[in-house]
Amino acid sequence: MAYKTKEWRNAMRVTVDYNYMMSKSLGDKGITDAELRALKDRAQRAFEYVQNNRGRDELYMGWTELPYNQEAIVNDILSTAKEVRKKFKYFVVLGIGGSALGPSMVFNALKHLHYNELSAKLRGGPKFYVEDNVDPVRMSALLDVIEPEKTCFNVISKSGATSETMTQFLIIADVLEKKGVNIAENMVFTTDACRGNLIKIDDKFGGKIKKYILPDGVGGRFSELCPVGLLPAAVLGIDIKGMLAGAAYMDGLCNKPAIAKNPALACAALQFITMRQGKNINVLMPYSDNLKLMADWYCQLWAESVGKAVDYAGNTVNAGTTPVKSLGVTDQHSQVQLYIEGPFDKVITFISVGEYAVRMPIPQGYEDIPDVGFLGGHTMQELIQAENKATAYALMRAGRMNYTINLPEINAFTLGQLMFLFELQTAYAGAMLNVNTFNQPGVENGKKATFALLGKKGYEGTKREIDSAPPLDDKYIV
Ligand code: PA5
Repeated sequence: MAYKTKEWRNAMRVTVDYNYMMSKSLGDKGITDAELRALKDRAQRAFEYVQNNRGRDELYMGWTELPYNQEAIVNDILSTAKEVRKKFKYFVVLGIGGSALGPSMVFNALKHLHYNELSAKLRGGPKFYVEDNVDPVRMSALLDVIEPEKTCFNVISKSGATSETMTQFLIIADVLEKKGVNIAENMVFTTDACRGNLIKIDDKFGGKIKKYILPDGVGGRFSELCPVGLLPAAVLGIDIKGMLAGAAYMDGLCNKPAIAKNPALACAALQFITMRQGKNINVLMPYSDNLKLMADWYCQLWAESVGKAVDYAGNTVNAGTTPVKSLGVTDQHSQVQLYIEGPFDKVITFISVGEYAVRMPIPQGYEDIPDVGFLGGHTMQELIQAENKATAYALMRAGRMNYTINLPEINAFTLGQLMFLFELQTAYAGAMLNVNTFNQPGVENGKKATFALLGKKGYEGTKREIDSAPPLDDKYIV
C-alpha cells in the first residue's frame, strides 16, 4: 500500500541544488558542464554496477532491497516495540559503529531534543540511551541513571565479536544476574543469522532471547533501515514504515543513469570530481539540531566505505576524502572562517530545512539599538534559514564549492530519503573509484593489536610483535 498520497510524497521530495559547485557561479573555481559530461560514462558504469548487483548478499548489496523486503519483520518489530513500550522504563542500545550511529541519528532527528527529560506522559515511551563507546565513565554514568531491571537492552552486533559491544554486554549481563534478573527477559539481540556469537550466547539461554536478524548482505554502516535501526526507532514510536517508504521514494528518484536526473549520482559525481582536484575534505553541515547526528552517521558511512588503499585492479590508490561534521549555525562561529578563507581543499554539503517543527517568533523590543531591534518580528526559522543561505552565498562569493540538500521538513519519510540518498551516493562513489565500498580492512590491524594486548587466544604472535617493537624514545616525550 502506498504511503500517504502522491501529492504529499511529492511535496516532501528531497532535492539537491548544486549551482554553487558550478563554474556558472564560481567562474574558474567551479565545475564546468564539460567536466560533468566527461564523467558521463564512469557515472553510468557506477550506476549500472549498483543497479545490476542490487540485493546481492555476497557483494554486501542487500541494503538496496531493505525498503521492499521487510513487511513481515516490520510487523514483528512493531509488536515487540509495543510490548517494550508497555513493559520497560528504559531502552538501551549496546553497540558501536553502524549499530550505534544509526539508532542515535534517528533518535536525534525525529524525537524531542530533550526527550529523556520529558515527563513519561509526554515521552510516551521508555527513556532512550545508546551506549556506543567503551569509556568506563560513560558506562558508570549510564548505570547511575537507569534501573537495569526495568530496562530493555538491545544488543546489536552482526559478528557478536566486537570487543566494545561484547564488553558492554558482559557488564550489563553481570549487573542483571546480580539483581536476579533473567537476562532473556530484558534483552533483545540483533545479529547475524548463524555466524554471530550472540546466537551462541542465546543458545545458553535455551534460545529464549528475542532475536532479530541482521541480513547477510547488509554491513553495519548500511544497516539503519533493517532491524538494527528499525527496532530502536519503533520503540521510540517513530513511523518506521514512513522511513522505509522515504527510502523507496529516493530509490525511485535515483533510477536513472544520468547525473542531472539522479540526485545520488549527482552527489557522487561532485564528490568524485572534487576528490580528483585534491579537495580532500568533505564537510557535512546540517542547519538543524535534529540533524546534528546525521553528520556523525554520514561520516562513518563515507569514511569506512571510500577510504581504501587499493582498488579492484590491485593499484594503490589511497582513495577517499575526510568527512567533517559541522553544524549550522553553530559552526559559523567556529569553522566557517576557515572554510571561506583557508585552503581550497573542501567541499561543503549543507542540509537545509524548509519548515522546522516549530517557528518560535522573535519578540519586538529595543528598537533603539539597531543590532538588536531588527530581529524583532521575525522568527527563529527565518533567522536560521537566512544564515544558511547567507553562508552558502558567502562561500560561493569566495570561490568555495558548496551544494545543498533540501528537506521540505524533517519527518520519517524525508529522513528515509536522506539516508538512502547518502547510501546510494556512497555506493556510486565507491564504484566510480573502483574500490570495495563494503569492507573495512584498515581497522583490522587495530582490532588484532587490541586482542593481543588483552591476551586473546590466537593472537600470541601479534603480542610478541608488539612487545618486540623498538621502545619509545624518551627524547620525543615532552
Ligand atoms: O560498518 C561496519 O560494518 C562497522 O562499523 C560495524 O558496524 C562495527 O564494526 C560493529 O560491528 P558488529 O556489528 O559486528 O558489532
